Amino acid sequence: MHAPTTPAMPSLAWRLKDQEIADVSTYVRGSWGNNAPAVSSGDVAAVRKQLLP
Ligand code: HEM
Repeated sequence: MHAPTTPAMPSLAWRLKDQEIADVSTYVRGSWGNNAPAVSSGDVAAVRKQLLP
């Protein structure tokens, strides 16, 4: 017997450029009272390399 699970979020990694991920991350980190520094496309490239060697 399998318990139902909520739908998982599809990966967007293949369709978003580094700059686009940087832009949305920067937006989230600076909205709704958040006040974190911006994310650069270089930051995204480094994380991609770490996650998808
Ligand atoms: C750039 C666009 C998007 C961002 C930044 C984003 C971000 C997130 C984040 C941070 C969560 C986790 C929320 C939490 O646990 O509190 C989440 C969950 C989810 N997202 Fe997205 N999302 C995006 C686009 C989408 C799209 C296009 C879809 C559907 C086609 C989607 C479907 C889902 C689903 C179903 C979950 C729940 C997954 C689960 O609970 O396992 N998201 N998203």
